[in-house]
Amino acid sequence: MARISLQLNPTLSRTTIKESSEPKLLHLPNKTRNSRVLILGGTGRVGGSTALALSKLSPDLHLVVGGRNREKGDAIVTKLGENSEFVQVNIDNVKSLEASLYDVDLVVHAAGPFQQTEKCTVLEAAISTKTAYVDVCDDTNYSMRAKSLHEKAVAANIPAITTAGIYPGVSNVMAAELVRSSKSENMGEPQRLRFSYYTAGSGGSGPTILATSFLLLGEEVVAYNKGEKIKLKPYSGMLNVDFGKGIGKKDVYLLHLPEVRSAHEVLGVPTVSARFGTAPFFWNWGMEAMTNLIPSEVLRDKNKVQKLVQLFDPLVRVIDGIAGERVSMRVDLECSNGRETVGIFSHKRLSVSVGTSTAAFALAVLEGSTQPGVWYPEEPEGVAIDDREVLLQRASQGTINFVMNKAPWMVETDPKELIFGIFL
Ligand SMILES: NC(=O)c1ccc[n+]([C@@H]2O[C@H](COP(=O)([O-])OP(=O)(O)OC[C@H]3O[C@@H](n4cnc5c(N)ncnc54)[C@H](OP(=O)(O)O)[C@@H]3O)[C@@H](O)[C@H]2O)c1
Repeated sequence: MARISLQLNPTLSRTTIKESSEPKLLHLPNKTRNSRVLILGGTGRVGGSTALALSKLSPDLHLVVGGRNREKGDAIVTKLGENSEFVQVNIDNVKSLEASLYDVDLVVHAAGPFQQTEKCTVLEAAISTKTAYVDVCDDTNYSMRAKSLHEKAVAANIPAITTAGIYPGVSNVMAAELVRSSKSENMGEPQRLRFSYYTAGSGGSGPTILATSFLLLGEEVVAYNKGEKIKLKPYSGMLNVDFGKGIGKKDVYLLHLPEVRSAHEVLGVPTVSARFGTAPFFWNWGMEAMTNLIPSEVLRDKNKVQKLVQLFDPLVRVIDGIAGERVSMRVDLECSNGRETVGIFSHKRLSVSVGTSTAAFALAVLEGSTQPGVWYPEEPEGVAIDDREVLLQRASQGTINFVMNKAPWMVETDPKELIFGIFL
């Protein structure tokens, strides 16, 4: 794992990250150093990657991997080493779930999919057993349902963050930091926030994320235009976005993602949207075609989508082998004085970066950054403003490009020529 050093220029509030090759171990406060962390879905890609990242960042943590399949559990525990164990748990069974939370300081919920799920069983169990909570949810309805448990979490004195992965998750914190910096630099009022995401192939992900992508194609996209909520067709509104060094220009399309709503509400930006694109280019065409040809009722039906996933999965694996799994997020903020600032986060491997990002949230909760209640990542009670820099530093370990608060022309691969202050 690359070591990162973070430098903050106080005058310009510009954050730049430099990579170095030594691993960086953390020294958690004594009271949290030996915490027990349960990772539900720890036998899966996101959960397994989170467990590995936590074990590297903070080897004194005791990691409990939760899942239904003992064989997969034993395999990951072998990788994690002696400070780990497997617990067999089905999150649909409240008794088994609550038993797994006994004596655990923090639960990381990565046992998706979150789409079309009726109840927040894990958060409810965390509240009733008084266990701190983080999830990697990427579904708007689920995140709103989690948020509706806020008062119960406050009453139980439990800190919880929902949508705390890479995107959503780190991207929300990047947006919050762009907004904060724009205010401190007197750039006027934030007017428009755009989240753009790119992942090559399926990002090395498994059938769950494939199912997630198909389920999202069945959902109308909610975006905000000058304060007004608007509904748009999924995988429409294509933009060609420059993701900068190591990634370049990619086509991205509108999707219904939870960070649009939370950023609009929490950060008070009137125009917000989120787009996603993949490679090779024909996958984007395939997604567009699915949206146009398959009725949305079918794309919203979990069982039917599972069948589609089984059909497509072998082809996805073959193409993944060629496409790789680069990931990039670009967050653009436009302010009322016309100035634009950009944050970019790019990594060669989504399967690694998603774990490092989730681990950064888990550590923030363990270190006491999060107030009792259920929070979105951009809320200062979720990750304290003073702790955002450390969170971004940890999450961006191993990135090939991480920049914040830059003008677009400074980060793009093909900047327009600037002659005498005029863009040609
Ligand atoms: N926020 C973000 O940045 C972000 C990024 C990527 C993915 N995600 C989300 O993360 C989730 C996981 O993705 P993934 O690629 O890791 O999927 P995955 O590889 O299929 O892993 C899911 C894991 O959940 C476990 N699981 C499923 N149902 C369970 C149940 N009823 N009880 C206990 N464990 C259960 C499975 O373990 P067993 O089969 O062993 O039980 C499996 O290992 C998805 O919902 C995806 O949308 C979020």
